[in-house]
Amino acid sequence: MYSSQMALSINDEDSLFNFVVKEGNGVKGLVDTGVTEVPGRFIQPPHQRFDKQQAAESPENMTIDLSELDGPNRDQVVKAIAHAAETLGFFQVVNHGVPLELLDSLKTATHKFFGQPSEKKAAYLKGASPKLTVMYGTSFIPEKEKVWMWRDFLKMTYTNDADALEFWPNECKEVVLEYIKTSTEMVKRLLQALTEELGVKLDDSRLNTLIGSKTVHMIFYPTCPNPEVTIGVKRHSDMGTLTVLLQDDVGGLCVRKGESLSPENEEWIEVPPIHGALVVNVGDMLQVLSNGRYKSAEHVVQTTSAKTRVSVPIFNSPLPVASIGPFPEVVARDGVARYREVKYAEYTNNIYGKPYGGKQALEFVSI
Ligand code: OGA
Ligand code: NI
Repeated sequence: MYSSQMALSINDEDSLFNFVVKEGNGVKGLVDTGVTEVPGRFIQPPHQRFDKQQAAESPENMTIDLSELDGPNRDQVVKAIAHAAETLGFFQVVNHGVPLELLDSLKTATHKFFGQPSEKKAAYLKGASPKLTVMYGTSFIPEKEKVWMWRDFLKMTYTNDADALEFWPNECKEVVLEYIKTSTEMVKRLLQALTEELGVKLDDSRLNTLIGSKTVHMIFYPTCPNPEVTIGVKRHSDMGTLTVLLQDDVGGLCVRKGESLSPENEEWIEVPPIHGALVVNVGDMLQVLSNGRYKSAEHVVQTTSAKTRVSVPIFNSPLPVASIGPFPEVVARDGVARYREVKYAEYTNNIYGKPYGGKQALEFVSI
């Protein structure tokens, strides 16, 4: 429980910052104090708010059975994957090879980690954490953000097993390592299918440069007393190659359809929770590699007063030193390169220097 020298006064900016960010109580700690109204620091400007009424039911055909990828129907399944990637940029997969018990264990581990007393979690705050491969925090970069998102997170960056076993929290290190191993197999098959459809053949080493960096987030979205003015995650696209995401049964992840629609006419679709399925979405780098054919869609997570939500995305990204530009085979066919080639590290550095969200990041490499 809260036992600082200074009592929390939620309408005082400094006090709130100390409590939520510095002491590591997070949004969860704030909710545990019994707040009935969100502090001003969490109130989003109208254009960042999101009302679920805005989102339509998702189409039935969003779910793809990966067991058929090695059977006689391979061509059909490859086409379905490519179609999903070039339209919505989001789809769900079943029979993905990640054990179902592991999915349950990941959700349990997330609740376990965030359910601990704040002091335990605070050991992984930026500055306190013994290693950069694990970091606990809230929102995105709360020191820099005017308005905070309604979520806490634990970020684990994979370098090698020994580092993970030594430094990642006991509550999650084993399950997260297993998640990385089993999902990587699936990501390779998906990426092979997606590039096959582009007429590009990837050998193992090229494949590895495109998905060689792996970061897992365990995200905790507490219940919110004012869901209409807050946001779990602001609208953004993922910057890597392919994201795999495990969500629980609460819902609230919505995706923007198409890119050309004006703000007044944009359409959103909810990604419905499906037990045992994983969500897959195209990141900015795959949009670049495919010369714009596969879409890195904007998405958002709503808050709710009904139930705490957890999710566990794994971001599969290029190695920082990898140069990423459209595949030459695709440029030759399209007759034009829509993006210039940059090192992935340059791309991410550009993003971290800017406010979170939207799709402005891709403009950095657009021609
Ligand atoms: C993200 C994200 C969605 C979710 O962390 O990039 O989009 O459901 N998360 O938590
Ligand atoms: Ni995302």
